[in-house]
Amino acid sequence: MNRQTIIAANWKMNGTLNLVNEMSNRLNQVKLADGVRVIVCPSFPYLAEMAVKLQHDNIYLGAQNVSEHEKGAYTGEVSTTMLREFAVKYVIVGHSERRNIYKETSLQVAHKVQALLAANITPILCIGESEQERMAGHTETVLAAQLQPVIDEVGIEKFNDVVIAYEPVWAIGTGKTASPEMAQETHQFIRQFLAEKDVNVANKVPLLYGGSVNAQNCEGLFAQADIDGGLLGGASLKVEEFSQICSTVKGS
Ligand code: PGA
Repeated sequence: MNRQTIIAANWKMNGTLNLVNEMSNRLNQVKLADGVRVIVCPSFPYLAEMAVKLQHDNIYLGAQNVSEHEKGAYTGEVSTTMLREFAVKYVIVGHSERRNIYKETSLQVAHKVQALLAANITPILCIGESEQERMAGHTETVLAAQLQPVIDEVGIEKFNDVVIAYEPVWAIGTGKTASPEMAQETHQFIRQFLAEKDVNVANKVPLLYGGSVNAQNCEGLFAQADIDGGLLGGASLKVEEFSQICSTVKGS
């Protein structure tokens, strides 16, 4: 099954205008393997500049959040329509930092996915268990509980236009990566969970791994059958390391 390979950069609340310039200059020169696409998700204020500077057929602009509402009295929020004006093609939703720090619920995440799909923007839907949940043997229950409300809200067919990022919370920013085998096992569960609803959709949806991915460990992770790329935080802020990862990743 040929699926798209995706390397997505989640800058989180990091970066500067200078990094926007340096990263885009470097990425514009990167040669990507066939079937590979790169998505760069800087903070909102940098989208406009990044939209102008990124000039590469297979490198796309993404955002890190979006409102589930269309417009109106939602101080501090950003709508899908606004993002579309800056050529944003992907948006990260349900990141564990949004779920844990800002108390976003899976239902709210489902509404955001719905809003994005309605605007023709591809959601990068993040799911993942905490260390405690994994230790207690609840990983699969937790992942299913994060996915199900989205499936209920948009319908399984719409997952043809969704990217899923599995990010074990204990591996994010900690330097502790899941081993390739452990990550593969969980990715296989996620694909199987989707396959019970629709095999074709399950076979097509790109499943990215996230959590302390870097130039050293990415090869082993991306070689796994059900891992179709990565969502990178820390490593995505380093111009040389990130562009090296992008240029060495193989298409499926
Ligand atoms: P990390 O972050 O690569 O710094 O662990 C990944 C993420 O949170 O998306």
